[in-house]
Amino acid sequence: MRLDKLLAHTGYGTRKDVRDLLKKNRVQVDGKQVKKGNIHIDTENQNVTVDDEVVYYEQYIYLMLHKPQDYVSATVDDRDKTVIDLVPAKYKHYHLAPVGRLDKDTEGLVLLTNDGMFNHIVTSPKNNIDKTYYAKITGEVLDKHIAEFNQGVILDDGYETKPADLKIISSGEQSEITLSISEGKFHQVKRMFRAIGMEVTYLKRLRIGNIILDDQLKIGDIRKLNENEMEYVASLIE
Ligand code: URA
Repeated sequence: MRLDKLLAHTGYGTRKDVRDLLKKNRVQVDGKQVKKGNIHIDTENQNVTVDDEVVYYEQYIYLMLHKPQDYVSATVDDRDKTVIDLVPAKYKHYHLAPVGRLDKDTEGLVLLTNDGMFNHIVTSPKNNIDKTYYAKITGEVLDKHIAEFNQGVILDDGYETKPADLKIISSGEQSEITLSISEGKFHQVKRMFRAIGMEVTYLKRLRIGNIILDDQLKIGDIRKLNENEMEYVASLIE
C-alpha cells in the first residue's frame, strides 16, 4: 500500500495533512526519514513511524454497533438511512458491511466488518451461530410455548424452524421474553410469534454467538471489538 494512503487510513489526517507530515520530516520507514508519499509499503514486513510512534495498519476491522430503529442493515439505500451512516469518519475508509440483517424497526447488536470471510461464517446457516433477542409481545406467552418453540414452529411459508430457546421474563396481556435462535430467516422472530398467534411489538438483538451487546454502548454508538471478543472472532475464522 502507498505510504500516504496508509497514513491517511491510520488516522494521520487528510492526504494534505499527510503531505505536511512528510515534508516536515516526521515520517520514517524502517528507521529512515522519507519525504515521498507515493512509495510502496509492505505492511507485513516494514515498520512505519511518525515522530517515533509506530503506525499499526489493520487490514480487517470488526466493530460493534448499537443499532437504533429507523436504520436499514445495508451499505446504501435510496430511501432510508443505513447502519453505515452511523460509522464515524475514522472508520469510513474500511468499506464496512453489516454482518447479517436486522429489520428497520429492530434495535440492538449489529457487527460491522470488512472481512467477508467472517461475515460469511457468521451468517451461513450451516454454522449454527445462535443469536439472542429480547422482545415485547402482545399476548400471553406461556410455558407451553417454550416447548413449542423448542420443537420448532411452522412459519407462514411452511418452513419448520430449528429448535429455539424461549425464556419468559414476564407474561400477561403484554409479555416480555428472550429468544435464542440459530438461523436467520427473513423476519424470523416476528414470524415465529405470528405462528402462535402473537405479535412482536418491540425487538432488540442482544447477542451473536459469544458477542454480547455492550450495555455501556449508547444507542447509535459504535466501538471496536475488545480483546475477548476478538478472540472469539479469531476462533471462528481459524
Ligand atoms: N427476527 C426478526 O423478525 N427481525 C429481526 O430484525 C431479526 C430477527
